[in-house]
Amino acid sequence: MCGIIGYIGKQNAIPILIKGLKRLEYRGYDSAGIAFFMNNKIGVRRCAGKIKDLESHIRGERLKSITGLGHTRWATHGKPSEENAHPHRAGGIVLVHNGIIENYFELKEELKKKGHVFTSETDTEVICHLIHSYSQNGLNFEDATREALKHVEGAYAIGIINEKEPQKILAVKKDSPLVIGLGKGEFFIASDIPAFLNYTKDVIILDNDEIASITHKGVSISKLHNSKPVKKEITKITWSPSMAEKSGYRHFMLKEIHEQPRAISDTIRGRFSLERAEVNLGEFSLKENDLKKLDKIFLVACGTSWHAALVGKYMIEEMARVPCEVDIASEFRYRKPLIPKGSLVIVITQSGETADTLAAQKESRKLGAKVLSICNVVGSTSAREADSVFYTHSGPEIGVASTKAFTTQLTGLYLFSIALAKAKKTLSSHEIRELFNELLQLPEKVEKSLQSNNAIIKIAKQFFRVRDFLYLGRGINYPIALEGALKLKEISYIHAEGYPAGEMKHGPIALIDNNMPVLALAPDDNILEKILSNMEEVKSRGGKVIAVATEDNTKVLSRASYILTMPKTNYYLTPIIFSIPLHLLAYHMAVLRKCNVDQPRNLAKSVTVE
Ligand code: F6R
Repeated sequence: MCGIIGYIGKQNAIPILIKGLKRLEYRGYDSAGIAFFMNNKIGVRRCAGKIKDLESHIRGERLKSITGLGHTRWATHGKPSEENAHPHRAGGIVLVHNGIIENYFELKEELKKKGHVFTSETDTEVICHLIHSYSQNGLNFEDATREALKHVEGAYAIGIINEKEPQKILAVKKDSPLVIGLGKGEFFIASDIPAFLNYTKDVIILDNDEIASITHKGVSISKLHNSKPVKKEITKITWSPSMAEKSGYRHFMLKEIHEQPRAISDTIRGRFSLERAEVNLGEFSLKENDLKKLDKIFLVACGTSWHAALVGKYMIEEMARVPCEVDIASEFRYRKPLIPKGSLVIVITQSGETADTLAAQKESRKLGAKVLSICNVVGSTSAREADSVFYTHSGPEIGVASTKAFTTQLTGLYLFSIALAKAKKTLSSHEIRELFNELLQLPEKVEKSLQSNNAIIKIAKQFFRVRDFLYLGRGINYPIALEGALKLKEISYIHAEGYPAGEMKHGPIALIDNNMPVLALAPDDNILEKILSNMEEVKSRGGKVIAVATEDNTKVLSRASYILTMPKTNYYLTPIIFSIPLHLLAYHMAVLRKCNVDQPRNLAKSVTVE
């Protein structure tokens, strides 16, 4: 995980690095550091803690430099401490790294035997020592880096500076994200675009095994292992810098929850024709003929994106009648899946960089399947390595807990299911138009759902001190119960479980007593009566029921202590509408418990380790 940034230009690099690191803090936030040139020497400042701690650490020093590197860490090897924080140094070589070096132990032992002295427990430090030892053997900076990386196994995005060649940054990438920002007379490297969005929207996305050499004059990119020059495309980013700011909201998570009407509108814009009753397949880079032949679909993802996959199964199977299997990516890659010829694997990933999802994606392609990536980050590894991509246009998601990315993933799955149903002729044009009409009303209905905010704050005030919480749902909303529970536990640290309501009597009902709040999802659908009975079961055992119900549903009144009503929509879109109050409830409970909502403990936004 971790975030890296580098700057070379005319301005003072220090505030640019600090600001960029704040934008990358979602990737890791247990320690941080910067490196910079001053009087042809490299200075390093690091500390345990967040970027604001690093800021206090250097306040008063009046540091000035036109070249520098920065790092925010999510500890993998060695605890969060000043010694383990990046940048790391060996001789005149100083670097920042995101990724994992798998053979670091063997390399470290060899280097130690040759007299190298290590000052940290990190895997990263071995890269420094390797480059340093090759430069001591007479290789120039770039060649020493190329040579060193021949021995390194694992994933890395690295920014390197060298005291012997000041005013140059080398950037290398393999299996961890790295982008280069091209400004006017200034250049940036970063793990993610928002880090430099205030300065430029022109971006080069580095590919695996490429090395960039960056000076004040420009950027030259070549293959890491044979030095062959590579010509790269410049991508123009359409996000505005304010999309990566809090814009007056107390937390990114709250801002991102409120951005959903806009995010969903952007995700559906231009992606279907109501008149022709068809999805614009070009937006999925898919062909109708391929869809017609499809007999089996696998949906693979992690965490919240896995919940989207579970909802996707209901959508695809019910609309298009094509069987689906849903897998957690870390399980899929090791379970030796049986993938019949001609299957499609849909990987769902906000970041496009989740290590387990990428490994599952690789495995699927190895087994002969085509891969569709539903992804939010343009140019991410998943998007580039897939056969086809559907970008959710939710804009950058900075809060660690995923909200708007989730509902736009569901929107993408809804469109995919309609496209497949059309190809399979399981829905008529009339039915498809009805589904589109409902989709067009979705942003407004999400806006309306957000108006439940004040009622949710009242409920949060009642329950924020509880120890446990149960979420119940059925059918297509069962994954939303899982999602509500995950959101609550990850940001408020309250133990929460999501259950298919019909499963209650097989065990979890034993947990129900006067202290157990139970949130039940009760949309007006064909199984409403079933969930109403489950609510009765809870109520009669003293549990406090909070119902999320469709507006005008009077049947829930006698069964719930608290009711949140949501606008009516069709069956397939209820998971989107019903996840809004659950995300808001988790948010307000966490705020009342004084938790760090945007950066929950032990988590990071982009899980690039296995
Ligand atoms: C929870 C959350 C995580 C992610 C998971 C997968 O709120 O955000 O569970 O959903 O780490 O991340 P992506 O979608 O980037 O692959």
